[in-house]
Amino acid sequence: TRVAVVFGGRSAEHAISCVSAGSVMAAMDPDRYDVVPVGITRDGRWVLHDGSGLAIVDGRLPEVTGGTAVALVGDPTGRGLLPLGGGSPLVEVDVVLPVLHGAFGEDGTVQGLLEMSGLPYVGSGVFASAASMDKEFTKKLLTAAGIEQGDHVVLRDAAGALTADPSALTQAHRDRLGLPVFVKPSRAGSSIGITKVADWADFDAAVATAAAVDAKVVVEAAVPGREVECGVLAGRDGGLPETSLPAEIRLKDGVDWYDFDAKYLDDAVDFDVPARLTPEQTAAVQEVSRRAYLALDCQGLARVDFFLGTDPVTGADRLVVNEVNTMPGFTPISMFPRMWAASGVAYPELVDRLVTGALG
Ligand code: DAL
Ligand code: MG
Repeated sequence: TRVAVVFGGRSAEHAISCVSAGSVMAAMDPDRYDVVPVGITRDGRWVLHDGSGLAIVDGRLPEVTGGTAVALVGDPTGRGLLPLGGGSPLVEVDVVLPVLHGAFGEDGTVQGLLEMSGLPYVGSGVFASAASMDKEFTKKLLTAAGIEQGDHVVLRDAAGALTADPSALTQAHRDRLGLPVFVKPSRAGSSIGITKVADWADFDAAVATAAAVDAKVVVEAAVPGREVECGVLAGRDGGLPETSLPAEIRLKDGVDWYDFDAKYLDDAVDFDVPARLTPEQTAAVQEVSRRAYLALDCQGLARVDFFLGTDPVTGADRLVVNEVNTMPGFTPISMFPRMWAASGVAYPELVDRLVTGALG
């Protein structure tokens, strides 16, 4: 099976996508897969790549810089073609694995291109990708499905238009959300553009930081609790989606929150894979993960991120979905492949299931 693994791209998560793709390609059995690495530069050019150097070395992040230009076109007979520029021969691929995070990759745009081209691809389609990328609409759809969400406000002016004016968060909003708040670009990932604000004096700068990434800014109340994640894979033979054992992210002493550096660069967190949860808590996380995946019409895979806290009144567990990632990180330290490995699905088998699912 010839698989185009696509990575890099125009989003702020360019480097993380490269690292994810490097890790995915290393797990693909060369006897089964003929891998065609396709990089997308930061300015959006598609190039053939040699697949090397896709790792973080001494804190330096990888980047797709150049290569032979390629364009993606469809084949009316249903089989996809990846033609090279400059009169080179066509490269035919059976399936595309878009290991892209964030804008122009995980948000339905590449998925639309692939739909138009007729090429089968791994993962969610246009709508689920777009809805899951946008924190506002993820929350709306999950709330409609009866899944508990943290309190939040999207910055809009009196007419309802998006705004980066910090005064759109009124005093009443501030009293309701309390401190700290997390100020986030609505459509981004890997904590890029997010600020934890513990003093309203720092709020305006935080809004500017988020608005530099996305015109839509979301202000979220802090949800006290443990950070727990769960992997979801499409069911086999039309069955229900399957869930992994959950994992927990525990910040080391002195680490304030799970930001970009804590995620990828610093030795700032301890991972429990699987999480130390009661059987009931594990079942609840898995059940809500499956419901969230289905509520958003996800396909193929997703990682659902939670806060597991305690209801201050009843003392019962309070499980709040933070977000849904339709193309979760696949870096060597990323949770999705590790959670599946802990659940009995080793990395090569995980890739097999994704590719087979897309071809099915
Ligand atoms: N957006 C990053 C890659 C993640 O969710 O893992
Ligand atoms: Mg994310």
